Amino acid sequence: MMIEADRIKIQAISLQDIARFSEYRDKEEVAEYQSWDEYPIEKAKQRITYCIKHPFHGKRGNYQLGIYLKDENYLIGDLFIEIDGHTTFTLGYTLDSLYWSKGYASEALEAILQYMYEEYHFKICLCHVYEDNDRSIKLLTRHGFDRIHKSWFYQDVLYRKMLNK
Ligand SMILES: CC(C)(COP(=O)(O)OP(=O)(O)OC[C@H]1O[C@@H](n2cnc3c(N)ncnc32)[C@H](O)[C@@H]1OP(=O)(O)O)[C@@H](O)C(=O)NCCC(=O)NCCS
Repeated sequence: MMIEADRIKIQAISLQDIARFSEYRDKEEVAEYQSWDEYPIEKAKQRITYCIKHPFHGKRGNYQLGIYLKDENYLIGDLFIEIDGHTTFTLGYTLDSLYWSKGYASEALEAILQYMYEEYHFKICLCHVYEDNDRSIKLLTRHGFDRIHKSWFYQDVLYRKMLNK
């Protein structure tokens, strides 16, 4: 699969991008609000190998797709997609900090939401965010997500967007 937007495209991550995937995910500011502290090459290799064995097809499972600069074919970030049922999916996003504040995350978010709605008819997208992750909350709010729940256990906030609106 490949989703094209203005400046970026979203597609499966290739084995050639293991070092690059590790490079930006390992940055302190990129990992700050994520489930990892460090992202060594070995971890990147395991994740990309898993994803190659389990290509995205819109069914139950968890997937990682690359966000590439369209013209350079250069990996600048990724999307995590978890599907539990046929109406709802959970989305995570990570962008190399060198590419923050240029609208690339916005472009990727719009493109994946449209694709999931049109191609697979998903109705709801959920995102878990730490309350002090201002950039992430700004991104979600700007794209019509609503804050629906705070988990006292995980200390994160659940945002939701209905895709037919
Ligand atoms: C969360 C994250 C993806 C947000 O990235 P981002 O670059 O801030 O988001 P956007 O792509 O929407 O960029 C918006 C900014 O680009 C600016 N911009 C510049 N050109 C633009 C364009 N062509 N279109 C839209 N916005 C543009 C906007 O004005 C806005 O500026 P601001 O940051 O001063 O408000 C990024 O910070 C990240 O990867 N963080 C680390 C991982 C993480 O925490 N993930 C979320 C876990 S819940």
